[in-house]
Amino acid sequence: MGISRRDLLRWGMIVGGGLVIPDGLRSSLARASDLPSSPPTVPFLLELKPGQGIPPVAKKVTPFNTQADPGVCVNVDGSTAFHVSPPRVVPDNTEFFLIHQKPLSHSFHPQLPNNILWGYDGMIPGPTILAKSGTPQLVRFVNDLPVNDPVGIGEPISAIHRHGGFQAPEDDGYPLDTFCTGQSRDYFFPNKQPAGLLQNEHSTNWYHDHSIDATAQNVYRGLSGFYPYTNSLDTGDEGTGLRLPSNFYNGKSVGPFDIGLVFQDRQFNREGYLVYNTFDHDGFIGDKFCVNGLIQPYLRVQRRKYRFRFLNGSNARVYQFFLSTGQPFIAISTDSNLLPHPVSVESVHIAPAERVDVVIDFRNYQNHSEVFLVNRLQQTESRKPSGLVSPGTPILKFLVEGVDPVEDPSQVPSTLLPITEGPAQLLQQVKVQRRFKADRSNGAWTINNQLFDENRISARPRRGEPEIWIIESGGGWVHPFHVHLNEFFVLSRDGKTPPPLERGRKDTILFGGDTAREIKILVKFEEYTGRYVFHCHNVEHEDMRMMGQFQVEP
Ligand code: C2O
Ligand code: CU
Repeated sequence: MGISRRDLLRWGMIVGGGLVIPDGLRSSLARASDLPSSPPTVPFLLELKPGQGIPPVAKKVTPFNTQADPGVCVNVDGSTAFHVSPPRVVPDNTEFFLIHQKPLSHSFHPQLPNNILWGYDGMIPGPTILAKSGTPQLVRFVNDLPVNDPVGIGEPISAIHRHGGFQAPEDDGYPLDTFCTGQSRDYFFPNKQPAGLLQNEHSTNWYHDHSIDATAQNVYRGLSGFYPYTNSLDTGDEGTGLRLPSNFYNGKSVGPFDIGLVFQDRQFNREGYLVYNTFDHDGFIGDKFCVNGLIQPYLRVQRRKYRFRFLNGSNARVYQFFLSTGQPFIAISTDSNLLPHPVSVESVHIAPAERVDVVIDFRNYQNHSEVFLVNRLQQTESRKPSGLVSPGTPILKFLVEGVDPVEDPSQVPSTLLPITEGPAQLLQQVKVQRRFKADRSNGAWTINNQLFDENRISARPRRGEPEIWIIESGGGWVHPFHVHLNEFFVLSRDGKTPPPLERGRKDTILFGGDTAREIKILVKFEEYTGRYVFHCHNVEHEDMRMMGQFQVEP
């Protein structure tokens, strides 16, 4: 009666090796939150350092042929794969990359056995792909994931989405544009300013798996990485542009003073192996806190300014970070874009897929001081966080080293990236208002009472015409709402002005629960036409079809 493999997957009835579990078993299986706690681990044993949690920057490869028809190809590294992308011509200045998705043996913590994870180029997080505004990139991803994987977490299908990226529909990781083991696909990233506006320059994107029905498991198993940019202001060099803390000074390597930190919760069984319940579609909440794949690591820092790109890469958990010393964070960027001005905040609230770049100055701490990044937002179920607790859980220890402050040429200027076209300019042009209501029905997750259907388009915005979208929560759950293609402005939360870190551009925004019953956002889609998705970034909700499509019309 037309039940596809995808239907089975969606309802969690396929686990590793394609075994089908009868429906009646579903209710008797425990939720992740009911599982016994993970084994104890001593915090701050593992050092976060280049090669251990701080991934290398992906290396360019010799340009390869992108004009051949789909078929078996030999890659520049000698590997072969069945290439599925249609032929295409790319600009002459395009940089080329070749990334294999493959298993790796990973140590989350010295007290746990190694786990077999899946990583881009066999790394957790994946290699950092660094974009330069104005220089296009073509990334060929090869799927080398095992077909019969004994662990049972993840499906060896791939679609890669550069989250926050401005790219054509065919390069956006559309969830049904998947490719399988032994296949490869090219993604072309133009790295240009949407609408040619300086305010739209990007700073921090990330890339992750976006396969239909399998995103949550595949991301949990390890498939994500950073995709930062440099541009004329945020140059990646402390001697030029805004002179934000960087890894370079006048072209010379001095860092790492600009470090991506991805926060992910995980859960382990008594033997120390990763667990994941494919029958739980509410959203995974684990009891171990990882930073860049290491449980509660520490980071040596010098007495100077650092830029940290915080990314909540968790499936469903929300965090609120404080520094143990009470020092505020200087927030400089939210999601893809620098803020107009730096904002000093006591804490950083961050929902799945959100990014917040902060600067922390360690100049005034004594040699050997220990400063902890503490999560004080308690969350034991995926419905919503239960509120702030004290003292909370230290997630990362900064170990300050140096008898004296070091020379620090970096700055945080008072103007970062001004907004020249914001709600003030756009609101009077709005002709269309749409409403989306997020809800739950029969254990599945809906938008306007509908499950995702690739044959249905929920909205047809016109290119370049701003619209107001009202996103409403039907129940007590929080949902991080994400829109592909362009950033939006948050106009209000339950009619009120949003908090300071939601007044820049955003591509993901948390609503529902205690945050707001209804949010109003201002969207505007530029340049590309075609089909894109919007969805809940609680990735279990996303896989359970809390996703819709919009088609940008010319
Ligand atoms: Cu981070 Cu549609 O994804
Ligand atoms: Cu949701």
